[in-house]
Amino acid sequence: MLIALIVSLLCPCIWSLDNGLALTPPLGWLTWERFRCQTNCKDYPKNCIGETLIKEMADVMVSDGYKDAGYEYIIIDDCWPASKRTSEGRLQGDPERFPNGMKALADYIHSKGLKFGIYEDFGKKTCAGYPGSEFYLKMDSQTFADWGVDFVKFDQCNADPHDMKYGYPVMEFFMNKTGRPMVFACEWPLNNLVKKIKPDFAAIRKTCNMWRNYNDIEDSFDSVLSIINYWAKDPYNMSSYAGPGGWNDPDEIIVGDFGLSHDQERVQMGMWCMFAAPLLLSNDLRNIRNSSKALILNKRLLAINQDPLGIQAKAFNLGYVQVWTRSILPLGSKAVAVLFVTDHYPGKGGNYIKVTYPLSIYGITDGKQYDITEVFDGHSMGTHNTSSILTFNVNPTGIFMFTVKPV
Ligand SMILES: *[C@@H]1O[C@H](CO)[C@@H](O)[C@H](O)[C@H]1NC(C)=O
Ligand SMILES: *[C@@H]1O[C@H](CO)[C@@H](O)[C@H](O)[C@H]1NC(C)=O
Ligand SMILES: *[C@@H]1O[C@H](CO)[C@@H](O)[C@H](O)[C@H]1NC(C)=O
Ligand SMILES: *[C@@H]1O[C@H](CO)[C@@H](O)[C@H](O)[C@H]1NC(C)=O
Repeated sequence: MLIALIVSLLCPCIWSLDNGLALTPPLGWLTWERFRCQTNCKDYPKNCIGETLIKEMADVMVSDGYKDAGYEYIIIDDCWPASKRTSEGRLQGDPERFPNGMKALADYIHSKGLKFGIYEDFGKKTCAGYPGSEFYLKMDSQTFADWGVDFVKFDQCNADPHDMKYGYPVMEFFMNKTGRPMVFACEWPLNNLVKKIKPDFAAIRKTCNMWRNYNDIEDSFDSVLSIINYWAKDPYNMSSYAGPGGWNDPDEIIVGDFGLSHDQERVQMGMWCMFAAPLLLSNDLRNIRNSSKALILNKRLLAINQDPLGIQAKAFNLGYVQVWTRSILPLGSKAVAVLFVTDHYPGKGGNYIKVTYPLSIYGITDGKQYDITEVFDGHSMGTHNTSSILTFNVNPTGIFMFTVKPV
């Protein structure tokens, strides 16, 4: 009750999309980064975009604890449709790879207690060349509702960039008219960025539950770092538009894939939680390192990500480290992340850096006593006040995270 009141006072909900969804960042799994547009099921039977992959992932989401941790959306990205619409003009799944149709797949996912997400594109064709929704917005919204879709990722390829500000709200209108609540994940600001048009974040937030602002993530730390450094610049004040009902989306979680070291996986997971970002895993949950799985399921990290205030962290540089802070509940608390990688110092040397500053440097300036807790393993760092010195080490391309809560 009190939390609801606080959230309603602090958050920008009033001007957010009013579909009752994504009051905290959506958690789930998405095909794209790991499985791309693999349609060759003969050579890649376990990894092609088809109902086998999706059902197996849904099974593992439940059996291995991801659902219990809060991950609920299972989302198919591009390359699911047949190359042609039906004779009535409806979208249909590829008949070879989705032999039972999309409704049956949605039913299977729902039977597991999970939610079903799908992909389309505002343009004439999707990015990979499948039928797009241009001129079919109403029919496609209804098709998705009829199938039981809970989440729509809506891309921006093969469309006129000046149409985004009309097309996305019209799609949202038709989705709303179906009466089925569906999370609306937009790529509208990404398109604006590519075309060097200033994104209208107020309009975007009114239309979308989450929105991609930057390039697709790839399986490398350079890619992760480019996103973090873009978020650090906070272009167009984008952080001020994040909050319950609508979120900046830095793209998928690649923890458990091939490109990151353990420290770098901690950086991605930690920072996406600091960002109040949707956590859409794009990895193979059927075959994942224990250390990666533990990060994805880390309760203290997820509590920061899902904090009801939904405040996106902001950054400042401090010597050779980059510091991120965000306010969390209970009131007066903060989460802090310190990265040994900044935009002016790559932090890729061989040794850790010792970071030693008074608590006040992290924005704690009153006279109270605070409990400090390291986030990844949960160990207590003791009780501190504003002037006491906090000391810790950060590995190259690594992260240190702690919470500061009033005693
Ligand atoms: C449709 O929009 C109205 C008004 O904003 C809102 O109250 C309702 O919950 C929305 N319905 C769906 C299914 O999104
Ligand atoms: C960003 O928003 C803050 C307040 O939320 C305001 O003080 C600042 O001027 C804004 N900056 C830009 C570049 O719009
Ligand atoms: C990973 O975890 C499983 C289940 O807890 C355990 O059986 C296995 O030995 C672990 N593997 C490694 C390499 O630690
Ligand atoms: C902070 O704590 C130290 C002991 O840890 C104490 O000496 C100092 O007076 C305290 N400062 C304030 C402002 O409470």
